[in-house]
Amino acid sequence: MTHLSSDFQNEELPNRARIVAQGRAWTNLIDGKFEPAASGRTLEMLCPSDGRPFCTIACSGPEDVNRAVDAARTAFEQSSWSKMTATERGRLLHRLSQLVMENFEELAALESRDTGKPLRQGEADITATARYFEYYAGAADKVHGETIPLPGGFTALTVREPYGVVASIIPWNYPAQIMGRVVGAALAMGNTLVIKPAEDACLSILRIAELAHDAGFPKGVLNVVTGLGEEAGALLSSHPDLDYMTFTGSPEVGTLIQRAAAGNHIGCTLELGGKSPQILFGDADLDAAMPVITNAIIQNAGQTCSAGSRLLVQQNLWDEVLERLKTRFEALIADRHDANADLGPLVTRNQAERVAGFMALAEDAGIPVLAAGTIAEDAPQGGYYAAPTLFGPVPSQSVLAQEEVFGPVLSMIAFSDEEDAIKLANGTPYGLVAGVWTGDAARSMRLARAVRAGQVYVNGYGAGGGVELPFGGFKKSGHGREKGFEGLYEFSATKTIVLNHG
Ligand code: NAI
Ligand code: MG
Repeated sequence: MTHLSSDFQNEELPNRARIVAQGRAWTNLIDGKFEPAASGRTLEMLCPSDGRPFCTIACSGPEDVNRAVDAARTAFEQSSWSKMTATERGRLLHRLSQLVMENFEELAALESRDTGKPLRQGEADITATARYFEYYAGAADKVHGETIPLPGGFTALTVREPYGVVASIIPWNYPAQIMGRVVGAALAMGNTLVIKPAEDACLSILRIAELAHDAGFPKGVLNVVTGLGEEAGALLSSHPDLDYMTFTGSPEVGTLIQRAAAGNHIGCTLELGGKSPQILFGDADLDAAMPVITNAIIQNAGQTCSAGSRLLVQQNLWDEVLERLKTRFEALIADRHDANADLGPLVTRNQAERVAGFMALAEDAGIPVLAAGTIAEDAPQGGYYAAPTLFGPVPSQSVLAQEEVFGPVLSMIAFSDEEDAIKLANGTPYGLVAGVWTGDAARSMRLARAVRAGQVYVNGYGAGGGVELPFGGFKKSGHGREKGFEGLYEFSATKTIVLNHG
């Protein structure tokens, strides 16, 4: 099931981080020590803006993964961490939050270069990451249990305890933020962690892990092993000594993660993306809606699990909305990450090809392109750019309306009335987020209740980084909840204690 070093050759991986024989820059963090992969192998990281290599990461194998899990186990059971109070854990997270902000510019620039996102977005992401640590720092000692009434001289109470060793496999689209929500919640609750970041973008995670080390977390509490998904990721997810697992990424790998969890009889949280609708009624405030709807698909070049990738428009508004969106889309420019344009490049050549494939399929199916932005003339040749594109009318059962493109591609679809809007909104396999735009308060509540999605926004979309708001999917978008207090509880098991006092 796992692939060893000799299975991987440069020519087998033409479109992504390539294995190079030697060279070392970024290393793993295992048991409080920074070290290269035991095999000495590395992966070359390519800058999405120009496709050129700019540093290397460790390409971990079985020895590295095993040592990271062993370190997390020892830290959970034997280190000072296991005796630390929740207040003390909160203080360490608070210190980490401060260190992230003290290194804000460096981290934002790193995130921007590594993922290709405009610097502005990198800054927003690092702000949210620090906020996750701050939020869970404050939450750590506010985890309460219940008392349960029982007859006959018994008193029952519940306490929430950490699972133990948690593995977390993180994608490349928001490395720092997703690390923030996992590390904040899992460590506040007293677990220990092994993180396997994405091979396509992971530098902010390594740097923040280093800051956690500086903040004073005991060794082995937070371990990071980088490497290929099908190698280090598969090894970690099937490791027999895990107590819980979290994954954010593709539905295909989500299936593998859940299978691996089943093999070890442990639970897992899966966040597998979406095809989130923005539902625009005839009585909506278009001036307020248009910029938000546009941003919800171009943010991070559409590589966002909660991207508003379907625009459901009430039929009588179609022409006016189209005219307004056309003006907006035609003004959008994709450019290198440090140009701070409307959007940056996609993360890898693979992702750019995937998005181009969806667009070609739509055009072959005769779906009209209604408007498109441009790629800056002087954007480097080797970069992975995609022009933001508006398609419509998109047949509701077409691939474009059903599958996650993960690129700056918006599908415009008309609806007749409320019932039709709900049917379309719920008519994909996903259910992550939805936006409802209407001036009718009663309707907004009816829609919010009828739409099958983990979050519903009324007359807005996304809010303050969402740190405090439970987040996760219905249907094929996954299961479990992250963020907010629910995200904290996700990393705990309830213990019931019953006292017989006669
Ligand atoms: P992916 O699911 O392959 O990668 C996500 C993470 O899983 C990475 O850390 C990767 O190393 C790891 N991984 C890959 N194969 C693995 C395996 N066999 N065992 C354990 N871990 C493994 O996603 P990919 O291929 O980068 O992107 C493909 C599509 O997935 C995107 O176009 C998008 O539609 C979706 N996606 C959704 C995300 C979300 O935020 N919900 C994030 C990333 C991708
Ligand atoms: Mg993949």
